[in-house]
Amino acid sequence: MTSPASRLAAAKWFMSLNDCNNVEDFRELARRRLPYPVFNYIDGAADDEITKDRNTAAFDDCDLVPDVLAGVDSIDMSTTVMGRKIAMPLFLSPTALQRIFHWHGERGVARAAEKFGTYFGISSLSTVSIEEIGRMVSSPKLFQLYIHKDKGLNHALVEACKAAKFDAIALTVDTIVSGNRERCKQTGFTTPPKITPASFVAYATKPAWALNFLFRERFSLPNLESHVSAGSSEPISIQNYFNSQLDPAMDWKTAEQVRSHWGGEFCLKGIMSVADAKRAVDIGATAIMVSNHGGRQLDGSRAPFDQLAEICDAVGDKLDVICDGGVRRGSHVLKALSVGAKAVSGGRLYLYALAAAGQPGVERTLGNLRDEIERGMKLMGVKSVSALNRDRLRWR
Ligand code: FNR
Ligand code: LAC
Repeated sequence: MTSPASRLAAAKWFMSLNDCNNVEDFRELARRRLPYPVFNYIDGAADDEITKDRNTAAFDDCDLVPDVLAGVDSIDMSTTVMGRKIAMPLFLSPTALQRIFHWHGERGVARAAEKFGTYFGISSLSTVSIEEIGRMVSSPKLFQLYIHKDKGLNHALVEACKAAKFDAIALTVDTIVSGNRERCKQTGFTTPPKITPASFVAYATKPAWALNFLFRERFSLPNLESHVSAGSSEPISIQNYFNSQLDPAMDWKTAEQVRSHWGGEFCLKGIMSVADAKRAVDIGATAIMVSNHGGRQLDGSRAPFDQLAEICDAVGDKLDVICDGGVRRGSHVLKALSVGAKAVSGGRLYLYALAAAGQPGVERTLGNLRDEIERGMKLMGVKSVSALNRDRLRWR
């Protein structure tokens, strides 16, 4: 959704970090600063991208009903999720390849999340190692696991998370094969990016990005490269990576085995049906992310916010239900919490900011969103997130 203010920002000949008051502004600044294959990798989704659009539009199907005269001089927006108290009810979903978006990469995102006292996740395909992130931040951290065909790799990743004292593992379950990422097919995006005669112009016209990418630290996927060269030294599309490296035989038994090997807070990322949410409880998961991978997998699948009520009704008292995807505004967070989510998470809401301006960008977007949540709670007349419930919503 482009607001009138974002249209004013986008009309400017020159845009800087100071012009970025919302996620959409950051998206525009990222579009200007990134080579187009990289921007379209972040921004893109599967097939016709209907699910990606619906993920955000779904929040418009209901409205918040404020109470007034509630004395909101001090409010508390903290919540507890996956065993840790976080200072705001919004956290940063794990996303791959951050060093390609900005040279600050996962380090910048981790430091920004730490400043805001919230959870963040690193992907199996992160560009900084599990060990380094473990040493770097004491704030809540999550590792996102992709089950590879290489069983030794899966085992090693869980062991590394134990050694680095990660707080939770999220097993992604919606990526049994890759979604059809047609923007990436058009642009030829690979990890690492490959300079070909066709892509040369895209990279050469963004020299700041190109110099940072070429002359700073060498790109790699440190959690994977000792087992898999594809993606680190051998350029490959994400679609081909998923379809050649990930294990399509993954099933509930696999998930249960990972949970028992790990033994800590365990989340299934990408649950969409009530039946699967109940099975997550049965195998001992402590959290689920209701998510369709930001619309990057099954286009035509329902939006997390649309599925949230029935899932919270079925399992909300047995594990933490997290609403993941489509969030662009503080009001979206308030709506998801009112339906029954324990917390809300998002990817692009901080990736555009990382791509646009590195760690200061991520800090600014988190500050904007925190202010929106706080202002929204005050305007709603609620002093704590537990006061948000379905009485505070009406469906159109
Ligand atoms: C992702 N996401 C993702 N999920 C995951 O489990 N492992 C991963 O490596 C990635 N990588 C990734 C890269 C990029 C560029 C994006 C945009 C997303 C999905 C992510 O964790 C989250 O589910 C979605 O981003 C949520 O949708 P929004 O918030 O982007 O609308
Ligand atoms: C993506 C990954 C890597 O969505 O999960 O591109």
